[in-house]
Amino acid sequence: MQAKNKIPVIDVAKCIDCEKCITVCPTNAICKNSSFSCSKCIKYCLTMKVPCNPDHYVFCYEQCDACGLCVSACLVDAIRWFEIKKYMKKHFDQVAQNWDKNQIHVKRTEAIAASFLQKTKLFKGMKALEFGAGTGLLSFALKDHFADITLMDSSAEMIKITEEKIKSAEATTLHPLLFDMEKEDYIAKTFDVIFSQMVMHHVDDIEKMIAKFGKLLDRGGILAIADLYKEDGSFHEMEFHGHLGFDPEQLGETLKKNGFININHEQCFEIERLSEDSKLKKFPVFLMTAENRD
Ligand SMILES: C[S@@+](CC[C@H](N)C(=O)[O-])C[C@H]1O[C@@H](n2cnc3c(N)ncnc32)[C@H](O)[C@@H]1O
Ligand code: SF4
Ligand code: SF4
Repeated sequence: MQAKNKIPVIDVAKCIDCEKCITVCPTNAICKNSSFSCSKCIKYCLTMKVPCNPDHYVFCYEQCDACGLCVSACLVDAIRWFEIKKYMKKHFDQVAQNWDKNQIHVKRTEAIAASFLQKTKLFKGMKALEFGAGTGLLSFALKDHFADITLMDSSAEMIKITEEKIKSAEATTLHPLLFDMEKEDYIAKTFDVIFSQMVMHHVDDIEKMIAKFGKLLDRGGILAIADLYKEDGSFHEMEFHGHLGFDPEQLGETLKKNGFININHEQCFEIERLSEDSKLKKFPVFLMTAENRD
């Protein structure tokens, strides 16, 4: 289960319409679409005076395998790489300040925490790692059940907010850590429990991350992952190229392959949103728990 970390994007202003990119693309991921209109302007423009330029080249990112042939074939540098990770990091930095004001984030955390506590046997003195802690919502909800929690996140702004919250709550058992687990291996200590909510769909290589969790957990340690069931791509109201949710059975198989046992999952929450055409869309969330065998 691997997501792309970069995609080609086109600067239509530079394009001289030579069609070389279309010719070289081995997966037919580029096409010239004269009827394409994303309609985003309808949502944002009050005057409706935005000129639409439908006669442009579009990428079908599901078909694109990021081989880069179109980038090197374009003689006028109209195609460049778009680094998804850098973009997402910036995005999380931007939303950190208002993250806790979103009631869905709060309610989701309460439901995941309740389900986790009901399913998991915890003992006094346990130390935990929250992977992708954001502003620490879940760690705050679980803090009284652990002796020590490390709140890891790769967004500096998320960590800044977490530090402020910890200081004002005098929560001395919570320890924020600015760290990118995809880029580096964390080796400073091991844990009894690793938990994570709504992060795995942002991780490129799921199997590699699960193997990293296995190394960080002590024998018999617990892994708890909460994330979306498979969705149609409408969950992120922005350009998104991570995983469109997960099939828990398939995720369970990956855990099994990496030395986890007693794998269980259940639905623990449902995110409700109004779509652009005012229809109510539901995005169920699962909680998967497993035990590290080794
Ligand atoms: C959708 S937010 C969820 C935040 C929090 N878990 C919550 O539910 O409120 C995903 C978080 O994962 C973090 N993240 C994504 N990839 C990461 C990585 N490789 N290492 C550490 N944190 C990561 C992001 O910075 C972001 O704060
Ligand atoms: S190769 Fe470059 S200039 Fe030619 S059609 Fe593609 S993007 Fe445009
Ligand atoms: S990166 Fe490769 S697969 Fe993707 S659009 Fe370009 S040529 Fe096609």
